Order: sequence, then C-alpha cells, then structure tokens
Amino acid sequence: MEALDRLDRIKDRFEEEIKKCGDLSRLDGVRTAYLGRKGELTMILRSLSALPDGQKVEVAKQANLLKREFTARIEETRAGLEETEAATKKDKTDVTLPGIRPRAGTVHPITGTISRINEIFISLGFSIAEGPEIETEFYNFGALNIPLEHPSRDAFDTFYIKGEYLLRSHTSNVQVHVMERQKPPVQVIMPGRVYRPDAVDASHSFMFHQVEGLMVDKGVSFSDLKGVLSIFCRSMFGNDIKMRLRPHFFPFTEPSAEVDISCIICEGKGCRVCSGNGWLEILGAGLVNPKVFEAVGYDPSEYSGYAFGMGVERIAMLLYGVEDIRLFFENDIRFLRQLS
Ligand code: PHE
Repeated sequence: MEALDRLDRIKDRFEEEIKKCGDLSRLDGVRTAYLGRKGELTMILRSLSALPDGQKVEVAKQANLLKREFTARIEETRAGLEETEAATKKDKTDVTLPGIRPRAGTVHPITGTISRINEIFISLGFSIAEGPEIETEFYNFGALNIPLEHPSRDAFDTFYIKGEYLLRSHTSNVQVHVMERQKPPVQVIMPGRVYRPDAVDASHSFMFHQVEGLMVDKGVSFSDLKGVLSIFCRSMFGNDIKMRLRPHFFPFTEPSAEVDISCIICEGKGCRVCSGNGWLEILGAGLVNPKVFEAVGYDPSEYSGYAFGMGVERIAMLLYGVEDIRLFFENDIRFLRQLS
C-alpha cells in the first residue's frame, strides 16, 4: 500500500534526523517539519479522506500511532538536550577572566609605628620588655618616686580598680619589674598600652600607647641619652630634623627634660600644628632618679642610667599628618587603608 510505505519512509527519515539533533532549535525544526501545521505527518492525517475506503482505517491508525511516537521521541530528546544545555551553562567558567583579588590586611598604623620605633632602638642594642597593664600602686607610682600627694595619683587621673590595683598610667612600671629581675647592665625599651581617664577629644584618648626606654650601667651620662635620642629623631623623622631639650620635672628622673623636634610640617617656620613656635614636643627624658634605684635594690653610687618615654599616637599623627587621635581607634577601614 503506497500510503503505508510513505509512512514507513517518513518514520525512517524522522529517526535519522532526530538522532542528529544536537540542540533545541534544531529539534524544533524537526518537530515543525513532521508535526507542524504543514508538517509531513500532519498533511497525511489531513488528507485521509482522499484515500480509497479500504485504506483509510489502516493508514489513519498507523499515522496516529506514528504521531504519538514522534511526539514522545521529541519530548524525550528535548528533555535530554535541556539537561546537557543546563549543565554546560553551569560549567561556563571563563578561566581567562581576571580573578577577584582578596584584599590583604595590613598592620594597624599604631602597631606599625611601634614597630618602627622598636627597630630603631633594637639597632642601638636595646631589647624589648613588656609588663602588666593591671598594676599595683607600688609599680606604677611608689617605686618611681611619685609621692602620695602627686596629682597623677588622684582618682581623676588614674583608673583605679578594686583594692590596690589600677590600670597603668604609663609603661614606666615595666622599668621597675625589669630592674627587680636583673642586675645592670640594663638596656630595654618598653612598648605598651596605657590608660588615663581623660575626656576624649581630637588629641586625648583614655587609652593610648607609649614606648619607654631605660639604660642602666656604670658611668651612663646625660650625653649618652642625648646621643641616643638624636639618632632616634633623625631615623624616625629624617636627617634634617633638629632636636632640643628643655628642662622639665619628672619624679623618676633627675635632671629631666622635655624633648622637642623642629616642626616636620613647616620645618621650624611656625604653623598651626606647632602652634606657630616651630617646635613639637615628642618625649620626656632624664637621668634615673637615685630613689628609683634604691626602690629596686640597685646601688646609686655604683650605677647611673637614663630613661625616656614617648606617646606613640602623637608620633603617628605627625608622621601620617593625622589631626584627630580618635581616627586611630574608630577602626574605619577607609581611614586605616590610607595609612598602610
Ligand atoms: N612616664 C612619663 C609619662 O608617662 C614619660 C617619661 C618616661 C618621662 C621616662 C621621663 C622618663 O609622661
């Protein structure tokens, strides 16, 4: 029967074509070609009435079977193609694209400044000593010849905790611990956090950092102190920096001085940062008071020494041109990144 032969040929061609369908649009083309409005199978089904009576039933039956078979084959192929298409889409990683670079962290500018200070003194033969932030009055005041009536012992100037404990108001407490532990020669620097109940503003914080230094040996003199400090100032701020010592008073050193450097902003001409006088105070220093030696059991007739102490935030503010101390502690990453 001619019509049935045609159906057989259509089926063979359909099979061949569907096997070659590698993507969904090609599959759609095959579907239109056989089952679409003008598709080959559709046309046969539509022209059944033109067939001789004896063939109509059989051809109609075969053609409908084929229609169902084609529909099923197309759906099954579509599902397969959709699956592989989704899978390749997921794998579409362009390995040539530049990656997302993770931002490397950096040290905090205060930590960085402490490291720079430490390195300078380490190169001069100092080693680093640390001590407790929670301290007794003896180590923070008594052994350092700070008498009971001294204003820094007032509750307004020190954070007192229960009993005799307090938060250290300077790192000088470490001097006492070090000297109790070892005999001269002593040559240490003492970096660390200190606490004072100051109202917070652009230049004050209730917590800040100091680096203190202590040198004790036979025959240590004020000129040794001056030499070490001038090397420090030049290493830290540049070779053109000038340094001056002004007489001052500290209970734990005698004689004592405050140390200024020529203003690094205006180079001594006078500007807002140096209040117009061309100098910036950066540290306190002096020869260790014999009373401190007595408190730790050193013989003042045998040994002499010097001590100095500086505020790290003040130095960092000068180095980086930061005008508000609070920026260091707010930990705003946009600020910290600029200084790294
Ligand atoms: N301890 C002093 C302060 O906190 C600094 C200092 C240390 C001064 C050593 C002289 C000698 O202000």
